[in-house]
Amino acid sequence: MASVKENLLRAAELTESDSPRLDLEVLLCHLLGKSRAWLYTWPEHELEPEQQAAFDRLFERRIAGEPVAHLTGNREFWSLPLKVNRSTLIPRPDTEVLVEAVLELRPQESLRALDLGTGTGAIALALATEKPHWQLLAVDKMPAAVALAEENRQQLGLANVQVRQSDWFDGVPPQHFDVIVSNPPYIDAQDPHLREGDVRFEPRSALVADEQGLADIRQIAAQARSYLAADGLLLVEHGWQQADAVAELLGTRGFEQVQSWRDLGGQQRVTGGQWRG
Ligand SMILES: C[S@@+](CC[C@H](N)C(=O)[O-])C[C@H]1O[C@@H](n2cnc3c(N)ncnc32)[C@H](O)[C@@H]1O
Repeated sequence: MASVKENLLRAAELTESDSPRLDLEVLLCHLLGKSRAWLYTWPEHELEPEQQAAFDRLFERRIAGEPVAHLTGNREFWSLPLKVNRSTLIPRPDTEVLVEAVLELRPQESLRALDLGTGTGAIALALATEKPHWQLLAVDKMPAAVALAEENRQQLGLANVQVRQSDWFDGVPPQHFDVIVSNPPYIDAQDPHLREGDVRFEPRSALVADEQGLADIRQIAAQARSYLAADGLLLVEHGWQQADAVAELLGTRGFEQVQSWRDLGGQQRVTGGQWRG
């Protein structure tokens, strides 16, 4: 058995993590049902034997590289508590840039939007929270991801989002959306980053795409044209070296006012354009 403070000192052993101390704080908060402020207030608090045993197990899994979000089963996105699991991507803060860009470009209170490859539902649920009168359709190819997004939707009580299974547009009934967004798979299969960090525990179905990572974005851009209203907006997230390629493929498919947005690290990670109709 050890105190809160002693358990947090074990952060020194988490040499592969970028945020070892924070990782252990999050795991302790999850296990004890307390806030980080509580941990700072009660550093000498001793864990009960079963709590200590549970923490030791989580610690070993974290040492083995498992993402903190998989250990706790949740991750915050756009200040929304979302359930996560191994069926899809753990939502990343960088994706909030896409949400911000949509809200900046389309301030209106009423429109129809589609989120392709919704995963946990992160993007669609963030937009639905900000815009209660938007009607959103959120689709994913993986049944387990669809179930997860629906669970998150219900937990947040968002009635303006519909979640359904679809291989990109295949299961989307013909209609015209004002906004189509996607954070699709865009990593090349040979990319060495696939062997590092959290992505080792995330499914390839959420990460990898053919054609140097651009195959899914190409397909989405080509098909989106039939599903966009006049002046409808398409915005996609992509890798930090793909902005020029995505801008070009949108331009050659007839999208106008193509522009990119930078993520929190200053890289161009979201590109979009308007469909002239
Ligand atoms: C990078 S993850 C993004 C998840 C979520 N939108 C986010 O931003 O956190 C890509 C998602 O696309 C889904 N996906 C992959 N191929 C698909 C396809 N052909 N049709 C629909 N969804 C697909 C994956 O299952 C995964 O949930």
